[in-house]
Amino acid sequence: MSGLRMSMEVVDPEILSLLARLEQHDTGTYAHSMRVAEYCDWFAGHLNMRRTDRARFVYSALLHDIGKLRIPSEMLNKNSRLTDEEWHEIRNHPLYGMEFVRELADRNIVLPDVITMHHENTDGTGYPFNSRTLELPAQVRIIRVIDSFDAMTSNRNYQLVKTVDEALDELIRCEGTLYDPEIVRLFCAQIQNGTHSSSQ
Ligand SMILES: [Fe+2]
Repeated sequence: MSGLRMSMEVVDPEILSLLARLEQHDTGTYAHSMRVAEYCDWFAGHLNMRRTDRARFVYSALLHDIGKLRIPSEMLNKNSRLTDEEWHEIRNHPLYGMEFVRELADRNIVLPDVITMHHENTDGTGYPFNSRTLELPAQVRIIRVIDSFDAMTSNRNYQLVKTVDEALDELIRCEGTLYDPEIVRLFCAQIQNGTHSSSQ
């Protein structure tokens, strides 16, 4: 995380202000967003993504769940079963996210697709669009994998936390349905190479 922390000093003030609001609103989502962005930065480096594309991708990853600002933190952290209305609300967070990043997207600093499509699956299921005709850009397919990997390996309910190997197995089990097989293959290989701190 140190590389990302250092580069945060030059992050657009609008992004920092949104992140500060997210930290205030729900520390769990904030911490998850920081980790996901850090994984995205690390993975983009392995893919030799161009500098500006990599920066845009990382900023989008930092804000991928920013729509959760519109959802009460009690609902985000509810331990009991969600009602249909609550579940519907949670599933709208990718769309709500656009309300917060429109200006950043207009300035071409973040990628709207990463915000709105990060829960869409390779087989056309997922939310909020749930459409087989949707073309998922590479950055969306990457964050879909990384978002899930982080959720599996850092679940706040310790009984549901998976080891790194269990999480990689789960990604492989769901490749072609939830996840892009090529991204899963590259991600698993890089994690197993041990170049990320989570593998040590
Ligand atoms: Fe999300």
